[in-house]
Amino acid sequence: MCGIVGYAGHRAATPILLDGLKRLEYRGYDSAGVAVLDPEGCLAIAKAEGKLSRLVERLDGHQPIGVLGVGHTRWATHGAPNTVNAHPHTDSSGDIVLVHNGIIENYAALRAEMAERGHDFASETDTEVLAHLIGVEYDALRAGANGFRPLPHLFAEAVRRALKRVEGAYAVVAFHRDEPNLLVGARQFSPLVIGLGQDENFLASDIPALLAYTRQAMTLEDGELAVVQPGGVQVYTLDGQPVVRQPFTVTWDLAAAEKSGFPHFFLKEIHEQPDRLRDCLRGRITEGRVLLPELDGLDLRRVKRVRLVACGTAYHACLMGRTLIERWARLPAEAAIGSEFRYAEPMIDDHTLVVLVSQSGETADTLASLYLAREQAAQTVAITNVVGSTITRYADTSVYLRVGPEISVAASKSYLGQQSVLALLALYLAQQRGLMEADEAAEMLEALQTMPDEIEALLAHTDRVEGVARRFAHVRSFFYMGRGPNHPTALEGALKLKEISYIHAEGYASGELKHGPIAMLDPDLPCLAIATRSATYAKTVSNIQEVRARGAQVVALATEGDTEIARHAHHVLYVPATPEALSPIINTVPLQLFAYYVAIARGCDVDQPRNLAKSVTVE
Ligand code: F6R
Repeated sequence: MCGIVGYAGHRAATPILLDGLKRLEYRGYDSAGVAVLDPEGCLAIAKAEGKLSRLVERLDGHQPIGVLGVGHTRWATHGAPNTVNAHPHTDSSGDIVLVHNGIIENYAALRAEMAERGHDFASETDTEVLAHLIGVEYDALRAGANGFRPLPHLFAEAVRRALKRVEGAYAVVAFHRDEPNLLVGARQFSPLVIGLGQDENFLASDIPALLAYTRQAMTLEDGELAVVQPGGVQVYTLDGQPVVRQPFTVTWDLAAAEKSGFPHFFLKEIHEQPDRLRDCLRGRITEGRVLLPELDGLDLRRVKRVRLVACGTAYHACLMGRTLIERWARLPAEAAIGSEFRYAEPMIDDHTLVVLVSQSGETADTLASLYLAREQAAQTVAITNVVGSTITRYADTSVYLRVGPEISVAASKSYLGQQSVLALLALYLAQQRGLMEADEAAEMLEALQTMPDEIEALLAHTDRVEGVARRFAHVRSFFYMGRGPNHPTALEGALKLKEISYIHAEGYASGELKHGPIAMLDPDLPCLAIATRSATYAKTVSNIQEVRARGAQVVALATEGDTEIARHAHHVLYVPATPEALSPIINTVPLQLFAYYVAIARGCDVDQPRNLAKSVTVE
């Protein structure tokens, strides 16, 4: 996720901006930049691809002088991670400077409109389009444009007007060369906080960027705009109404602030899943249809079957994805593990669509599978979180997860993103092939869109899962079982427990119990059974009874309102009702929390489990 810092005050802005960006490094980024304005209106912009240290080196000995400025670390969403696409961006006059975090959904239409008016664009970013749009509004206001004009500052009013035309998510900070004491910040679905100092004020994506300078802060809510000057801050709604907002005092230390107050990145990333899922879905469901313009270049009519390939957690997402593709799009689909696929002499040809799923986009076995698919003339789609990663350079096209950088070694939010994108892909293929009942498609789209709220509600009450997890912290082994689309959920739950608590765990399809694993069951092998509402619910209950009859403790994951299940299981964790096909998305969340609380009770290093690397770039 991009990081933003803005400063308006009396001290040299550049070191403050660079220091703030350093404090936001944990958010992940691929390029960085600053723009600083001196009181005479002299503007300096510096950008560098890669680490912040590259930008610092570039500025060594000639840091821009000025007491107002903005800084940005970019996590690419539109356009490759390079210096041209790095922020800040300017409008066509070069007088308006803008940094942005988020995704402007209608940027293509706005860009076309600006291009028609004769605007040239230096970068491929959606951000630059917004800078141009602000420039157009500013020029119109200067030329005496009429209409409702609620904000006292011309530039702030221009930003307000431009943002009224923008669809999507953003946190922006902008300034104009002619107004050297004024920063304008605004947000819609992306974070931006205000820091309040003595004759100086700040804007930042997150609190850590402010802590060296002030502990007094003020929130900016979605749909609000802040006019920030050294002597004060005024907040308005985007409709121009003044807002009265009380400041608050930040009590976190720096380490806690980077994790938004959570003790571990893994827990923070679990809790941010509702927002990240909103980011992932934003703009991809409109008027009852799935929009995936990334797939426009493919010839989908040629596709006779789909192969999904990945490793680890991403492979579990593929298992869910294959079920949905077969069920909805009626295309034969198979999921394969990268390290197997690459040596299996798989049957692929130009009628095969190969979908490679990788959070990092750098996993060696997944990349090797991609190269193989290309050699065999298959069409290829990468589903990844990292713009510009190797996988995106070789696949025919890429669909991004948009869940922001994942810092914890154990995957959490990327899994929910992968499941959601694969569900969208399955619905998109069904839509293209005209094979899905309209009612069912509408129900699934509705369920996907309400999923973030449901996960949010679930995450508001984690005491129960914590309490149950603590009871099992000292077991040697755990058995997970699930059916249908939740078989992969059982595999993922078991993988999470193994990875971060080092407890041996096995995930199984519930129906396989009698074909072997039942022999292991005894009072020392507890079982987590996924028993949410489904077509095979009754069979799952029978499986639970079989487990219980062997003296094993049972933790059931069930649908809210299911009181029956408590008669069969020793402990019940509840999730909101969701259609079975999409239930693996929400069902995963309690299993992540369960693994987390077991690991904590065992004193494990949750964010850096032993022997594991975040990205497996070797075989
Ligand atoms: C598990 C985990 C790994 C990764 C796997 C693939 O928590 O993180 O199993 O899912 O190494 O990584 P990517 O998705 O980067 O290809």
